[in-house]
Amino acid sequence: MSDDTLRVSKIRNGTVIDHVPGGQALKVLAILGIDGSAGETVSVGMNVPSDKLGRKDIVKVEGRELSQAEVDVISLIAPAASINIVRDYEVIEKNRVVRPERVEGVLACPNPNCITTGDEPVASAFEVLDAGVRCAYCDTIIRRDIADHIG
Ligand code: CTP
Ligand code: ZN
Repeated sequence: MSDDTLRVSKIRNGTVIDHVPGGQALKVLAILGIDGSAGETVSVGMNVPSDKLGRKDIVKVEGRELSQAEVDVISLIAPAASINIVRDYEVIEKNRVVRPERVEGVLACPNPNCITTGDEPVASAFEVLDAGVRCAYCDTIIRRDIADHIG
């Protein structure tokens, strides 16, 4: 029995984002654009005891699978996360996140003069650095609090 089973109920269908660093679950929800207003069923465990991480967060989203772009940004704040796809209560797919070289479409460039923040529809693109990300268009670097730049 996994260590969080008694704290956060199992889900029937959807995605479990597990092994998120303790305290980062709300950032994962921000990346997914979840604030409760759309009526999604979401369970969050924060600072749950974990053998691997000491303390971990866990996010369970019912009835939804994640896009690769969302998983890529999650990997920046939760490098050890696993993405579990659940159908009929069974984990049918489990993937560790992989730190990407580039993230597209999820983050917004903080530079108001960047081509990606103008009226023309140019999707954002950031190169992933060892610490932070760099806009592929204007070279603006976001070093900290990446989840505050969800577009
Ligand atoms: N889970 C869930 N609902 C289900 C099935 C699984 O919420 N119907 C959750 C489990 O509670 C766990 C995660 O999905 O947090 C992964 O499930 P599982 O692979 O069964 O657990 P572990 O073997 O402990 O996973 P790992 O080895 O990745 O730690
Ligand atoms: Zn830019």
